[in-house]
Amino acid sequence: MFKTLPGFREFYPEDFAKKSAIFETWRRAARSFGFVEFEPPVLESLELFTEKSGEEIKSQLFEFVDKGGRAVALRPEMTPSLARMVGARAGGLRRPVKWFAIGENYRYERQQKGRLRAFYQFNADILGDDSIAADAETIALLIEALRGFGLASSEFKVRLGDRKLWVLMLESAGVGEESFVKVLSVVDKIEKVSPAAFDEMMAQALENTGLNPAKISEACRSFVAINSLEGLRRHFEGASGEVAAKISARLDDWGEILKILSEMGVGDFVGADMGIVRGLAYYTGFVFEAFQIVGKGRALAGGGRYDALVKKLGYPDMPAVGFGMGDVTVADLLELVNKTPQADISPDVYAVIGSESLRAAALKTVFELRRAGIKADYPFKAAGFGKQFKAADASGAKFAVIFGEEEAAKGCVKIKKLSTSEETLCETEKALDFLSAALNLKRL
Ligand code: HAM
Repeated sequence: MFKTLPGFREFYPEDFAKKSAIFETWRRAARSFGFVEFEPPVLESLELFTEKSGEEIKSQLFEFVDKGGRAVALRPEMTPSLARMVGARAGGLRRPVKWFAIGENYRYERQQKGRLRAFYQFNADILGDDSIAADAETIALLIEALRGFGLASSEFKVRLGDRKLWVLMLESAGVGEESFVKVLSVVDKIEKVSPAAFDEMMAQALENTGLNPAKISEACRSFVAINSLEGLRRHFEGASGEVAAKISARLDDWGEILKILSEMGVGDFVGADMGIVRGLAYYTGFVFEAFQIVGKGRALAGGGRYDALVKKLGYPDMPAVGFGMGDVTVADLLELVNKTPQADISPDVYAVIGSESLRAAALKTVFELRRAGIKADYPFKAAGFGKQFKAADASGAKFAVIFGEEEAAKGCVKIKKLSTSEETLCETEKALDFLSAALNLKRL
């Protein structure tokens, strides 16, 4: 007997329907913001990710050599592929480019609650626009996508950090540019590892720089603790010279993004938090993560600005900002707060065929219903009424349409509402109208 591989899911119809309902909620939100859907390939050249995603993802790649001798990897994320796709058509695309995708990603992670080796992600990104408004727009979409499930600000929050301020802080502490990415990937782990392990990782990141890692660790710890714009202002109060002008300009950006988010009506969901730096290598500005604040505080989504990635892939310079939201933690949270979208996999109608001589007429009606968008099912084999009613009940159908000799003689069918057993005699020709109205079906 075969089992699924660790970290891979199989979706039986009930689970598939729940997943589809989640995807539809994401799609609805993205489209309402004017984003259009795209799809990158599942398999890419290994180099696209080893070069662009950073160390952590490198160690998690599902990689192999294909039969043509190419080093390839299943995509662990979609951002590098998106950057390539947009970069390749940079000249011809109307800007800003607002694209979204829903697809499966693969990471060879240690399997744990909320973390799998194959998971779906909703990605939404804006390319070709460097304004703070574009950052705000992606954060607002992240929030509205979660609100689309009925989630409230008491159930999740977006923590907003900033790599630009981190870099200014590190610069002031004497850290050189070549160490920024390494130091920030250590800071990204601060909530997950012990203080001693943190110090050790920091010492490694700063090896051969001549800097005192304990001092930098300390500076990082106090910076991580800042969780308000006032706190940021206070932290940088003493700054002077060239760096002070940069800090002041950046704090203005902070004022602007928080203002726009509050104008959009999503301010309650967002808080400044320097503890967010993001693990991926390509981020350059605002970075953010959405966390559930009920139950275990897991990450629902993460993203940020990555202005250098398109150029690094060899295309024209193109600013970019976006996020990825995973289906695993979102589905767990919805389950926890009882907000899993309703997913109905039952037919609307089950045809009960009283006699084989009526099968042709029944099929005609069933197909008429189906063509009008009503989910209609019927038994393949001749069977007694009792057995067919059992099948109708078991199918979860809302209505049974009964084709009986007596009704047929009058040009009618009997329509039975299965939840109440209420029966209506209906002209066969009017069955479609009756059922459409009863099912509240919007006819085109
Ligand atoms: P990420 O933080 O690596 O970012 O992933 C984003 C989200 O995907 C996470 O918050 C989590 O919900 C989900 N996720 C990641 N890994 C797993 C896993 N092993 N199992 C289950 N869910 C997982 C990115 O991937 C960036 N490419 C997002 C982005 C788009 N940045 C800019 N544009």
